[in-house]
Amino acid sequence: MNTAIIVAAGSGSRFGADRPKQFLELAGKPIIARTVLIFESSPVIDAIVVVASVDFLEETEAVLAKERLTTLRAVVAGGETRSESVAAGLNAVPSGTEIVAVHDGVRPLVSEDEIERTLRAAAEYGAACLTAQMTDTVKVVDGAYVVGTLDRRELRRALTPQAFRYDVLKDVYDNATLGEAVTDECFLVEESGTKVLSVSGSQRNIKITTPDDLLIAEALFRAGNEE
Ligand code: C5P
Repeated sequence: MNTAIIVAAGSGSRFGADRPKQFLELAGKPIIARTVLIFESSPVIDAIVVVASVDFLEETEAVLAKERLTTLRAVVAGGETRSESVAAGLNAVPSGTEIVAVHDGVRPLVSEDEIERTLRAAAEYGAACLTAQMTDTVKVVDGAYVVGTLDRRELRRALTPQAFRYDVLKDVYDNATLGEAVTDECFLVEESGTKVLSVSGSQRNIKITTPDDLLIAEALFRAGNEE
């Protein structure tokens, strides 16, 4: 069984709206509903666990209830940090889960193809991370000064989903110190010495973090549906 954990327990403080950004609408539906619907229609996903903030559990359940989902297994309360929310999701996956894919609730433009390729890579290699090329040059700064330039040919942006054999992810989470510094799952898996395959993802798979991101997502969504 393949299970998706969709984390949506963030406060959205960087967005500046009065509600978490996952409830704002993208093309007429809440962002979290759009994201979950892609996993619902994926032929490689059997079960979905959504992680929501304890203050918005009921609202999340209500939003998802409107979609008549057949693969949604649980909506559970998340933690203070993303990694704690992922841990809560991991504790709620159905027994028999072999592959687990972790996805940001605020990435509604992920494609079914990206989900499928990441899951297949995880099934074969144990761990896989969807990544995108860097188009900007990246600087290291110290205070007001630029102190270095990274070689962007070696850099990739980490997208989601990131997928793992269940035992690989469960084992690192059971032994890790979780907190702000753990900004994705692959980080912990890399640290444990397990190799993580890099799967090529699209620049379209953006994380909606600011109001500008929502404008871009609306345009990409519209263009995608016109193709
Ligand atoms: O904070 P960041 O942009 O990395 O958030 C990525 C995803 O993690 C979002 O979908 C957000 O809702 C989720 N998250 C969470 N629990 C937290 C913080 C973030 O589920 N405590």
